[in-house]
Amino acid sequence: MARRRQIYEGKAKILYEGPEPGTIIQYFKDDATAFNAEKKGTINGKGVINNRISEYVFTRLSHIGIPTHFIRRLNMREQLVRQVEIIPLEVVVRNVAAGSISKRLGIEEGEPLPHTLIEYYYKDDALGDPLVSEEHIACFNWCSHEELQDMSSMAIRINDFLSGMFAAIDIRLVDFKLEFGRIWDGDYARVILADEISPDGCRLWDINSGEKLDKDRFRRDLGGVEEAYREVARRLGLLQNEDSGPGEVLDLNAHRGRLRNTAKPVKK
Ligand code: TMP
Repeated sequence: MARRRQIYEGKAKILYEGPEPGTIIQYFKDDATAFNAEKKGTINGKGVINNRISEYVFTRLSHIGIPTHFIRRLNMREQLVRQVEIIPLEVVVRNVAAGSISKRLGIEEGEPLPHTLIEYYYKDDALGDPLVSEEHIACFNWCSHEELQDMSSMAIRINDFLSGMFAAIDIRLVDFKLEFGRIWDGDYARVILADEISPDGCRLWDINSGEKLDKDRFRRDLGGVEEAYREVARRLGLLQNEDSGPGEVLDLNAHRGRLRNTAKPVKK
């Protein structure tokens, strides 16, 4: 393959210049980090699964009218996306207490929240992505008031849709992280969903057993990490080969693990 210009290397992805102006290639790595990269590791096959899961989720979201950066999947580990100017905020949506909110506020993990919460974290690795308020966002002009409204209303719609989508395959959507970017049309900027949606940035619990099917298995050394990611893909109906592009076999069935339970994959 021709050498491409690398634009950026993140913790889980590499971005390359795309074939046309205004496009980017997202390459999904198997690398995993946690606690602001204090913990590092590899989750075998994660990049392939996250590429596929994220493609599926972004495609479903575009069908309900959420504008996204996703254009098409190129191969097992790469997808073509629109180039955006990333808004330096991580938008976290929470339905159930877990992770940092449990720690910060002393709420037991698994406690359903009285209503869905949206939190904003300022994207800055050196600062450890601190939690910030709308006041901070306005004060430091990380995005406009209208952009924040667009992001929060999209986040609520995404949460409603994904909660139902996952519930249908016996998965509880506990929380997840979104990132948005601006695309410019002359002087006018529009906010679209960017980055990825995968078990790396979501908490996904089996509805019946409570078993974790996400990156917390890596963060907390619970074992069965690869199996958990594959289980999510399997339940979403993504483990067949029929979606493979020319010359590639998307066979994630290979090592089905012990996390598999009775939930049936969705029919497409
Ligand atoms: P938290 O409980 O650690 O704040 O995480 C909330 C959600 O956001 C969880 O689903 C994991 C996701 N997340 C990321 O995707 N990237 C991050 O850097 C952090 C801290 C959380």
